[in-house]
Amino acid sequence: MCGIFGYVGSRKDAGKIVIDGLKNLEYRGYDSWGVASKVPDGLIVRKDIGKISTVDTATFEEESELAIAHTRWATHGGVTQLNAHPHLSEDRTIAVVHNGIVENYAALRDELITKGHTFLSQTDTEVIPHLIEEELRKTGDFAAAVRNACLRFDGRYAILAMHTASNTLVAARTGSPLIVGVLHNPETPDDYGYFIASDTPAFRKYTHIVQYLDDGEMVVTDGKTIIFSDIQTGEEREKREIEITWEVEEADKGDFEHYMLKEIMDQKESVARAANQDEVQIQTLAEAIKNAYGTFLVGCGTAGKACMAAEYFFSVVANKHVNYAPASEFKVYHHFLTDRSLLIVVSQSGETADVLEAMHVAKSKGAKVLAIVNVQGSTISREADYTLLLNAGPERAVASTKALTGQLAVLLLIAYALAGKLKEGKMLLMETSSMINDMLNPRYVDRLSNLAERIKEHEDLYIIGKSWHYPMAMESAIKIQEVSYVHAEGFAGGELKHGPIALIEEGTPCIALMGKDEVTNDMLSNAMELKARGAFIIGVAPENNPVFDEWIKVPDAKDAQPIVSIIPIQVLSYFLAVKRGKNPDMPRNLAKSVTVK
Ligand code: M6R
Repeated sequence: MCGIFGYVGSRKDAGKIVIDGLKNLEYRGYDSWGVASKVPDGLIVRKDIGKISTVDTATFEEESELAIAHTRWATHGGVTQLNAHPHLSEDRTIAVVHNGIVENYAALRDELITKGHTFLSQTDTEVIPHLIEEELRKTGDFAAAVRNACLRFDGRYAILAMHTASNTLVAARTGSPLIVGVLHNPETPDDYGYFIASDTPAFRKYTHIVQYLDDGEMVVTDGKTIIFSDIQTGEEREKREIEITWEVEEADKGDFEHYMLKEIMDQKESVARAANQDEVQIQTLAEAIKNAYGTFLVGCGTAGKACMAAEYFFSVVANKHVNYAPASEFKVYHHFLTDRSLLIVVSQSGETADVLEAMHVAKSKGAKVLAIVNVQGSTISREADYTLLLNAGPERAVASTKALTGQLAVLLLIAYALAGKLKEGKMLLMETSSMINDMLNPRYVDRLSNLAERIKEHEDLYIIGKSWHYPMAMESAIKIQEVSYVHAEGFAGGELKHGPIALIEEGTPCIALMGKDEVTNDMLSNAMELKARGAFIIGVAPENNPVFDEWIKVPDAKDAQPIVSIIPIQVLSYFLAVKRGKNPDMPRNLAKSVTVK
């Protein structure tokens, strides 16, 4: 939530660099934007409501070697120009951009008001530059002032701060991500600098060398040198330089109109990449599950639905009971966690605050944590005891698609390893990948587009499933809700008759997800119950059935069935959004990476 980006170095177009890079962080928030560039006589600050992608980079003509920028997902204070970042100190010499929440901002603000500070916005952020200003008066040292101010904040945050007195960029983090991009190449000694951003796409076109800030760390750089240190103690920290493996083009939407469709299509390859894990490592993790006294799976939203599906994978494939909880609910489980418990966390971004909290709860009890993440180097991947990468490539659309099928593939593979059938599992997933490749052909996609056209005026839509298709029914609802704003709900097929069936009217579209397995007949009965009440039944299944008014064929993928069943729903959601005039890449009220609790 919120993207922040700063640059300091030898280049003279810092304003352009940050505004341009910020466009690649738009997925983190898109209700307003802002930039501060340092120029000889002070700061140039521009900010406005609206999307960063609409801002013309060419207008940032000032000569500047230091700039910071922000794209906002509002928490405190409405979407107004005054609430947009950067925020400034009383004397307008200090600018700050911020991702996260300063929980004790109200008390700090009252204290600062008594000292004569005035506040222009409703944000929690505005206390930061004012407090730094107070500290600077005491110490005369900007970096020390930022450190002292940080020591007074409660909550999770990442900040970038700059001051008109020097070309120094200071960054600090507790909870929210910050990554340094290193532009120091011995072959081009005159072109140097450091980038600091919430995520690597902001600066990937300049460098693939990064250094990660850990929680409780800060960094001070003038573009030539950089010093990492502990916020609390001031002790300096050594940092490794790490190479990012993905290429710039992978984060590009190419000829596709939207990232969402591009990422759905990426699944022709991404499932195979996810399944192509190191076999020794998978086997080791399967052993860890076998030996644990209680394995818990947690994730949020779509990733949570992958975890819930894995409960069924482990049960059906490996006769093993594991427990799923939404990450935001896991905290309460501390009562029975021990150092023999195992927590498996699943997250595309690797930065989700609720997931991090679950990890901290588990670790405080001595439990081990396995992370399944897409973003290499993310906080979750670095804090976990073991990490498996999805290798799906960057996922930019807010709606998670290729990460989900990668997560399902990795979890299914682990279940197969636990059952002593790793090779068989890998083979199944490779076959599934080739089925997806066949399935996502232009005719198939057109059919789903036509179906979207047919049902786009309905404001309610229900999806049912049983076994691993139950979480996929819930995931279908998330996909449809978030991009098309149609009211969609996913249910366990057998639950409808206990209440929700009262919602069905003549013509209500209902999607039934099913495979060829032990629950197919139950699902057909549930679909018939709906049809008898007038529902329009869309069957997503390997075989047609008279109960279906519309049949969306999916291949018979056996235990990998949920992976193939969800794909037509992703495509349908995409077209529902487009045909209802919504931008599927930027749904209202949402952000890609949810770094607040
Ligand atoms: O980055 P994560 O996988 O941890 O994100 C979890 C959820 O916020 C995410 O899946 C969200 O539900 C998506 N918008 C769904 O498409």
